[in-house]
Amino acid sequence: MGLIQELLQNNRQWAADIKKETPDFFTKLSKQQNPLFFWIGCCDSRVPANQIIGLLPGEVFVHRNIANIVNSADMNCISALQFAVDLLQVRHVILCGHYGCGGVQAAVHGEGHGMIDYWIWDIKAILTRHELLAAQTTPERLDDLMCELNVIEQTYELCRTKVIREAWGRGQAVSVHGWIYGIQDGLLQEVIPEVSRLADVGQVYDVALTAVTQKYVGG
Ligand code: CO
Repeated sequence: MGLIQELLQNNRQWAADIKKETPDFFTKLSKQQNPLFFWIGCCDSRVPANQIIGLLPGEVFVHRNIANIVNSADMNCISALQFAVDLLQVRHVILCGHYGCGGVQAAVHGEGHGMIDYWIWDIKAILTRHELLAAQTTPERLDDLMCELNVIEQTYELCRTKVIREAWGRGQAVSVHGWIYGIQDGLLQEVIPEVSRLADVGQVYDVALTAVTQKYVGG
């Protein structure tokens, strides 16, 4: 069987297995989606949103891009965010980075990758912003530090988007989370504490930055 035929065969088996367990699963889902979570993650094939948080189709709305970047000028990410927050009324927005992120590594080590260089420009700016901190860790730990700083900064950007600020402004119950995933052990860790109002954003940013500094400097 060819590789692609195998995928289609896998799909038929998967759909049959779900129907066996829950006969009306797909008919129910086809009528509406009602996810409580919006996931912003990296494209990396080792970080599949649904599987690592144990959720079924219909339970998490997903946007992925190289190095989980949130930029208010990115129509794709912001449109997905707006759809999730304004229309689907998700309760939690999760920004999830991961260790060993190729996008972060490319930004840190300055390798040429054509178009990707423009995309990861925001991460180069993060390195510049935190160059004193970066200079105080060991070269072996720099990539991990940058993956965590990227989560902190992208989560901060997420909190400052018009979509999130307006949702909080009208009293909508939506929380923002910043996590990192270990491709070496399959485990998630919280990098930035949960935040659910604009007034707390600066404080959680400081808490997260202090924790990362303690973890990577002099340890
Ligand atoms: Co990545």
